Amino acid sequence: MHILIAGGTGFIGRALVKHFTMQGHQISILGRSIKKTEAVFGDNVNSLAWDNFAPKAEDILGGVHWLINLTGANIGECRWSNKRKSSIIESRIGPTNYLAKVCGKLGKQSPVFFNASAIGVYGLKPTETPYSENTAIDFDQADDFLSEVGRTWEKALEPAENAGVRTVKLRFGVVLGSGGVLAKLTPIHKLGLGGPIGSGKQPFCWISINDVIRAIDFIFADKSISGPVNLVAPANDTQKAFAKAFSKALHRPSFIPTPGFVLKAVFGQMAQELLLQGQYVTPSRLQQRGFMFEFPTLDAFFSHHFNAKL
Ligand SMILES: NC(=O)c1ccc[n+]([C@@H]2O[C@H](COP(=O)([O-])OP(=O)(O)OC[C@H]3O[C@@H](n4cnc5c(N)ncnc54)[C@H](OP(=O)(O)O)[C@@H]3O)[C@@H](O)[C@H]2O)c1
Repeated sequence: MHILIAGGTGFIGRALVKHFTMQGHQISILGRSIKKTEAVFGDNVNSLAWDNFAPKAEDILGGVHWLINLTGANIGECRWSNKRKSSIIESRIGPTNYLAKVCGKLGKQSPVFFNASAIGVYGLKPTETPYSENTAIDFDQADDFLSEVGRTWEKALEPAENAGVRTVKLRFGVVLGSGGVLAKLTPIHKLGLGGPIGSGKQPFCWISINDVIRAIDFIFADKSISGPVNLVAPANDTQKAFAKAFSKALHRPSFIPTPGFVLKAVFGQMAQELLLQGQYVTPSRLQQRGFMFEFPTLDAFFSHHFNAKL
């Protein structure tokens, strides 16, 4: 198969490229800089740049079987100034809508279109039952910044969906693996400072990178799956449970809390929405189709990740 990954030089993209390369697929990476892509993947992939993609977009995508778009400015990298918030939204909507229009034009010749999204799309209102793909979402308004990001991002896919292209919205929880959030947190936990954040009672929905890759393979193979798919482990943990399992695997204490007011002072709205609140989400569609998680619990994940003896 020919697989094109946009935004493929990041944490999830690198893991997918490694996996697809081992499976013998042909891979193209679409990004902002051919130099960067070549520095990351060498000549294992065909490197394409957004700047000169447009004139040949239909020809290229017409020859692609699977399109995976992961493009977007990192949500947790720095404080959410108004400028940063615009960049977080525009870096997602622009590329997603552009690719959706090209796929829409291609119609039946379009690749299957997998687009990144996030569980933030559901918003932060507490609910009695976890959010599932059947939860109704009002895409015309949002109560917080992360739901605004998720909702405008998914709406940008409409030109492909309206043209009948098989479109899958990958609603990721926090992805755990070698990179991403875990790479940033490991030094803190190694120092024994990885305790609960705020009360620690806020939901923390996560998924291992291994299960992300396995789920994407699973969805590709089951042609009846399209639309939103929640990519979260079934455990529905709290942030405190995450901190505890993480520190336990490193044989470090996990009782020193980071007070919420300190985080709010340093990170502002980002701390409020990303660290001190969350939502419970269930992977209903994957489970209904019989998907089995390799790492359904935090202990299973961390014991594998750190090869720790629990
Ligand atoms: N990792 C998670 O826990 C998680 C959770 C929820 C949702 N997601 C979503 O899943 C997608 C992939 O996640 P990831 O962790 O692999 O992200 P990542 O490591 O931050 O990589 C995203 C890629 O997007 C491109 N990019 C970055 N800033 C950009 C900008 N300002 N304009 C245009 N392109 C830009 C970059 O590719 P080039 O430099 O090659 O262009 C980068 O490699 C993201 O959209 C993310 O929001 C991830």
